[in-house]
Amino acid sequence: MFDIKLFENMDAKEKYDTMLGMLRPLIEDEKSFITNISNSAALINALIGRINWCGFYFIKNGELVLGPFQGLPACTRIKIGHGVCGTAVKERKTMRIENVHNFEGHIACDAASNSELVVPIIKNNKVYGVIDIDSEEIGRFTELEQIYIEKCVEVLNEYIDWEEI
Ligand code: SME
Repeated sequence: MFDIKLFENMDAKEKYDTMLGMLRPLIEDEKSFITNISNSAALINALIGRINWCGFYFIKNGELVLGPFQGLPACTRIKIGHGVCGTAVKERKTMRIENVHNFEGHIACDAASNSELVVPIIKNNKVYGVIDIDSEEIGRFTELEQIYIEKCVEVLNEYIDWEEI
């Protein structure tokens, strides 16, 4: 059972520590790739807060393809080097964008999005995709959110075989 009320009175750091603590038991005994990624998107979406989209894109045949997510329907394919997601893959680094309208080439999926955090999924030096999170708030994502989503990728890397994509 998942009770969102448990997190109501926690500050951000407490919530994110709880998120990390819950991620491992959520995925460690389950072998299904799609199950683990779907649950991971739902967990991050529930605990980060003040966001309007959260999900995965995975590299298939040289472009990013939409994976499991929470939010409105989104762009299905993004070329490497395009948008915030494609740039995170090309540069192999986290993109934390205070105001997406100032990012040249930003790809708008949900018109309400104003800021964005994209963390690349890199294992054994190979990029497999990204976790993408959008918010309606300008400057929603701080170093704190960046650190915790990067830690989520580390935990996922321990259990997920990304070659199954
Ligand atoms: N804004 C992203 C596209 C994906 S959506 O936000 C879900 C980008 O510029 O790559």
